[in-house]
Amino acid sequence: MKIKQIGVVGAGTMGTGIAQTAAVSGFNVILNDVKKDLLQLSIKRIDKSLTKFQDKGKLKEDKDKILSRIKTTPSVQDLKESDFVIEAVFENFDVKKDVLVELDKILAPEIILTSNTSSISITKLAALTQRSDRFMGMHFMNPVPLMVLVELIKGMDTSQETFDQVKSLAEQMGKAPVESNDYPGFIANRILIPMINEAVYALMEGVGTKEAIDQVMKLGMNHPMGPLALADLIGLDVCLNIIEVLYDGFKDPKYRPCPLLRKMVEAGYLGRKTGRGFYDYSK
Ligand code: CAA
Repeated sequence: MKIKQIGVVGAGTMGTGIAQTAAVSGFNVILNDVKKDLLQLSIKRIDKSLTKFQDKGKLKEDKDKILSRIKTTPSVQDLKESDFVIEAVFENFDVKKDVLVELDKILAPEIILTSNTSSISITKLAALTQRSDRFMGMHFMNPVPLMVLVELIKGMDTSQETFDQVKSLAEQMGKAPVESNDYPGFIANRILIPMINEAVYALMEGVGTKEAIDQVMKLGMNHPMGPLALADLIGLDVCLNIIEVLYDGFKDPKYRPCPLLRKMVEAGYLGRKTGRGFYDYSK
């Protein structure tokens, strides 16, 4: 099936980045979120990001032409005309469940439905729908317009045909797809989030200051940013959610969430999005 219009559900950081990347790659995008103010903010963020790319001569088309391909809507019903849908709502099973059940009712049976979940079982999400053979994980990395990887995860019933189509779409979006099996955290977060959790333990136990911990990983391991700065970028609530999925999924104490990470989330210090995480972004 020829994909012309991509539906993206959720206008948070990931949904915004996915919508931008799809539009830059020539697709028409319909971006849905129940919060109208978030939709407006999303378009502003895309505009700002596209301006940066345009100023560096990295866009093949004028930014306004790309922006004109993105339509926003607070009504999920408007996704009915989509040829392909990516769900990118808040990383919580109950929230995703409501959205996926509704999408499954609205979309024509042949349409492929994917989730950008960063750790929830694809098989469990697929089982909520009547299209488990046409359902799979399509996990983008943050910031989506800059990161090349997309993890592709088949559920137990996902057909090879669905996988091949999603892989081809990821390539058309300029991404490098890598297949992961459906285990908690897939590949990326199985490795990344325990490292971040351990960095928070190192901070809590006074092994080093936040700056020292981040510098060691930047200068010693050539990571583009330290694990605490990266946690602020991802969102501390998201990191906590994922480490809890690993802990619950494997029942292995090596994945126990760091109490300091939990305390930061309880305090509302969620990282860049709230202006404060391990670092201060309010100025
Ligand atoms: N749109 C356009 N341009 C952007 C941008 C955006 N959204 N974000 C940053 N840029 C540009 C900046 O303007 C800057 O351009 P100049 O060099 O011309 O000034 C350039 O990108 C580099 O940005 P910065 O100078 O701010 O900082 P940096 O060199 O450290 O790069 C980064 C930023 C690309 C985010 C880099 O630090 C990096 O790769 N960090 C690691 C990111 C990472 O690990 N992501 C995965 C997170 S895990 C995940 O997403 C999965 C999950 O489920 C949790």
